[in-house]
Amino acid sequence: MSNTRSTTDYAMLKRQLMALLDTRDWVTNTAQMAALIFQQVPDLNWAGFYIQREERVLHLGPFQGQPACNPIGFEEGVCGAAARTGETQRVEDVHAFPGHIACDAASRSELVVPLSINNRLWGVLDLDSPLPGRFGIEDQEGIEALCQVLIEQTDLPDRV
Ligand code: SME
Repeated sequence: MSNTRSTTDYAMLKRQLMALLDTRDWVTNTAQMAALIFQQVPDLNWAGFYIQREERVLHLGPFQGQPACNPIGFEEGVCGAAARTGETQRVEDVHAFPGHIACDAASRSELVVPLSINNRLWGVLDLDSPLPGRFGIEDQEGIEALCQVLIEQTDLPDRV
């Protein structure tokens, strides 16, 4: 399936996001970013944030898509793995990922980017796709660059 992947102009998306985030408010900016990604990145069935609102527990934040699982502990799922390791998780086939949490049975691949401020995990951005192998390295790098824009243009307080 990977050779049928759609390509996204992440440089353009980054410029759009920089213009869109015209407040420093975390609720507004994360909601706008989830909507922009969901509209502009093809073949997604979910895009949104989980936030570390209590120690080692991720709580559902602004998102687009179907109602989702909440909360998610650091020991659970792809989101927990990103939170625990501080490293982006790019999963080609969620059925092969031990502990994957199936909020939506349609999801087949997943990209989760951790967001850290001052060495503390603030939250994660989670993207799901109904296509296996939807996310390539170019998607990972593009989405990580968008997360950097969010971090630079938003006040992400320690406790929200
Ligand atoms: N699949 C994720 C859970 C979140 S939903 O996909 C929105 C996981 O395994 O962490």
